[in-house]
Amino acid sequence: MISRRRKALLVLLAAPLLLCLKVITDEQEAEVVKREFITNRTHGSAKQKVGNFSKSYKLLTEFPYKFLMDEPHFCAEDLLVLNMMPVSVGDVESRARVRRMWGSREVVASTKLRPLFLVGESSDAEQQRRLQEESDEYHDVIQVGFVDSYLNLTLKTLSALHWKHTRCRQVPWLLKSDADVFVSPWALTKLLRNETADIVCRLLFSKNVCRPHNCRDKRWMIPLEVYPNEFYPPYCNGPAYAVNQKFVREILTVASAEKPFVMEDAYYTGILAQGLDLKYNNIGSRCQLYHLKQPPYDTVGRGRSLFLVNPERKSRYRYTLEDVWNYLISLRT
Ligand SMILES: *[C@@H]1O[C@H](CO)[C@@H](O)[C@H](O)[C@H]1NC(C)=O
Ligand SMILES: *[C@@H]1O[C@H](CO)[C@@H](O)[C@H](O)[C@H]1NC(C)=O
Ligand SMILES: *[C@@H]1O[C@H](CO)[C@@H](O)[C@H](O)[C@H]1NC(C)=O
Ligand SMILES: *[C@@H]1O[C@H](CO)[C@@H](O)[C@H](O)[C@H]1NC(C)=O
Repeated sequence: MISRRRKALLVLLAAPLLLCLKVITDEQEAEVVKREFITNRTHGSAKQKVGNFSKSYKLLTEFPYKFLMDEPHFCAEDLLVLNMMPVSVGDVESRARVRRMWGSREVVASTKLRPLFLVGESSDAEQQRRLQEESDEYHDVIQVGFVDSYLNLTLKTLSALHWKHTRCRQVPWLLKSDADVFVSPWALTKLLRNETADIVCRLLFSKNVCRPHNCRDKRWMIPLEVYPNEFYPPYCNGPAYAVNQKFVREILTVASAEKPFVMEDAYYTGILAQGLDLKYNNIGSRCQLYHLKQPPYDTVGRGRSLFLVNPERKSRYRYTLEDVWNYLISLRT
C-alpha cells in the first residue's frame, strides 16, 4: 500500500508533467494543421478553382436589399475593429449581454473594438417596435430588408461586408462573431494591431461538401451544380473570424447576392477567397471550441484564447460567458 504522503508526492511530481503534455498537444495540433495546409495548398489548389468569379464592382456601391435601420456615423470614432454580430430580431438578451461585456463604453474606449448587431426583417410589429426603441437608445443595430432566417445568413454576411465598405472603410478590421461566442477583446486587438495577414481565424481543412449520402444536417446540403468538388478549400470556422478591409473589398467584387451559398463561412473565406491574393493567419487552438471540459479561465487569463465558441452549451460545468468575462475583468483591476 502506498502511504498517503507518498501519494501526495506522486501527485506533486506528476502535475508539471501533465501540464507539459497539455502544452505539447496544443502545439502539435497547430503544427500538424500547418503542415497539411501547406501540402494541400501546393498540391490541391489548382483543381479547387471552380465557379464564375469574374469581377463585378457593383456590390461595392449598390446593394439589392435596403438598410431599414442604419448607423452611418457609427465609425466616426476611431476604431480598430468593427465587430459585426448577426443576431435574430428577438434575441434581445444576447445584445444586452454583449453590451455589458466588451460592448460597454469603457471597454470600447480601451480596445477600439466595438460590437454592432445585424438583424433581418421581423413580421412581428411589437418586436419591431421594441427593436426600434433599443436602436434609439444604443445606436448599434443595423437592420437589413430580407427575411431573417438561418439560410439567409449568407446574405447577412454579405450585408456586413457591403455595410463596412460603404460606411466604415477606414476601420482596418471586421470581426464577424456569433452571439454565442466569447470574444477576448484585449488579446484580439493586441494581435490585430500588428497583423499582416488579411484573414485571422481557426482554419478548417478538407471538409466534405454536404451531399445526400454523407450529410447529417440537411441545412448544409449543396447541389452538385452549385459546387461540384468533394472537399472545400481551407476556410474559417464560421462562429468567429476577422478579415481586413482589403478582404472586404476583394470579396465584394467576386461575391454574388443572387444565389446565396448556404455555407457562408466556406463561401466567403474559402471558395471566394482562394482565387484572390489573400493571406491567412491560422490561430488554430487560440479559438477554443465548445467541447471544453472546464471553464477556460486559464487560457483566457493568459491572453492565449481569442475566442471561445459556444462554451455554455456542452460543458458539464455550468458557467456562462459572463462568468468568463468577470474573471477576465478581475485580472485587470
Ligand atoms: C460569368 O459571369 C458573367 C457576369 O455575370 C456572365 O456574363 C458570364 O456569362 C458568366 N459565365 C459563365 C460561364 O457562367
Ligand atoms: C431570404 O430573404 C429573401 C428576401 O427577403 C426571401 O425572399 C427568401 O425567402 C429568404 N430565404 C430564406 C431561405 O429564408
Ligand atoms: C507592434 O508594433 C509596434 C510598432 O509597430 C511595436 O512597438 C510593438 O512592440 C508590436 N507589438 C507586438 C506585440 O509585436
Ligand atoms: C490533404 O489532401 C489529402 C489528399 O487529397 C487528404 O487525404 C488530406 O486529408 C488533406 N488534408 C488536409 C488537412 O486538408
